[in-house]
Amino acid sequence: MKTDQKTQQNQKDEAKSSTWRVSVAPMLDWTDRHCRYFHRLITQRALLYTEMVTTGALLYGDVARHLDYSSHEHPVALQLGGSEPVDLACCARLALEWGYDEINLNCGCPSPRVQRGAFGACLMAEPSRVRDSVAAMVEAVSGTIPVTVKHRIGVDHEDSYGFVRDFVGTVSQGGCETFIVHARSAWLDGLSPKENRDIPPLRPEFVLQLRRDFPELAFVLNGGIKTGQQIGEWLPQVSGVMVGRAAYQDPWSLATWDQEFLGSADSAAPEREIVEEQMGAYIAEWKAKGLHPQAITRHMLNLWKGQPGGRRWRQVLSDSSLLSTLSVPELFATARRARLSAELDEAMESNQPSQLGQLGQPLTASACV
Ligand SMILES: Cc1cc2nc3c(=O)[nH]c(=O)nc-3n(C[C@H](O)[C@H](O)[C@H](O)COP(=O)(O)O)c2cc1C
Repeated sequence: MKTDQKTQQNQKDEAKSSTWRVSVAPMLDWTDRHCRYFHRLITQRALLYTEMVTTGALLYGDVARHLDYSSHEHPVALQLGGSEPVDLACCARLALEWGYDEINLNCGCPSPRVQRGAFGACLMAEPSRVRDSVAAMVEAVSGTIPVTVKHRIGVDHEDSYGFVRDFVGTVSQGGCETFIVHARSAWLDGLSPKENRDIPPLRPEFVLQLRRDFPELAFVLNGGIKTGQQIGEWLPQVSGVMVGRAAYQDPWSLATWDQEFLGSADSAAPEREIVEEQMGAYIAEWKAKGLHPQAITRHMLNLWKGQPGGRRWRQVLSDSSLLSTLSVPELFATARRARLSAELDEAMESNQPSQLGQLGQPLTASACV
């Protein structure tokens, strides 16, 4: 390779690695626009994925309901579920019109409903169809945004390294340059989708081998990564790390990503109370448009996870009667008081000065409720 070409390749590699370095996985029913808005308040830079949206839902359903999102969410990738190149191309054009930063094709979902639609993980058995689908999408967006594929390392008994290597080799011919690999097989017969996220063993070494075999492509590792320490350990070995359940279940774990992994070492870390306040304002806006607050609060119940009083705060925000009767400011004020009161109780029980005590405010438990 000539020096110019090498430089170009290096720049391309850097651009790729910064785009996909750390991301939150697509999760049906979880990573809707409200969840992504919440996550974006905690990490400014990580790439966020939508839930899977099927081509049928876009071609025959309410497009705005599925594709509308807040401009704050960028960078945001739309994940599509489908298997017809023509349909996928139409949906790719929609994704471009709606301003998504990437289109991702789901080749990893093992649910029976998805299998009946002949997409998701069963597409791994049809690499040439995936290649043609990718090519149709790339053409539909004239190469202006990347088309990526999220897949498993195998399906049922097809679980040799050669199987996933050949899949990647074929699909890359369609113009996919970034592969997000959930590093376990999908067992389509006999395991529920939930079991399929835990039982088939993780084999990250397959992803490392893919990287060696296809140095011109980017590979993002997904599956079982829970902590910042694990992200940090994997990042030098792969183009990026995608986190699913751990990001949703402990959203504050995203708070260190920008500084630790995404080049924002100098910027201030987010603060929980400010994020809470911003979410209060966001929920009030949506409530005024007729949305029940629970549609949003459900995503943020773990904001104070592991913190003193976090459980009480969560209880208030998930209490259906409080959610229906209180105004949004009242709801958040109640949750805050409950948290601080429980924090004080915990501090008194353990005989330690609470944060409030350290501030020198002579608080009693009754003053907080
Ligand atoms: C509730 C839930 C819904 C999911 N929905 C999708 C989906 O729509 N598309 C997809 O590609 N993967 C989906 N997944 C799989 C995740 O994207 C991810 O691959 C998987 O959870 C493994 O990553 P983790 O161990 O970090 O959670 C879903 C996972 C969960 C827990």
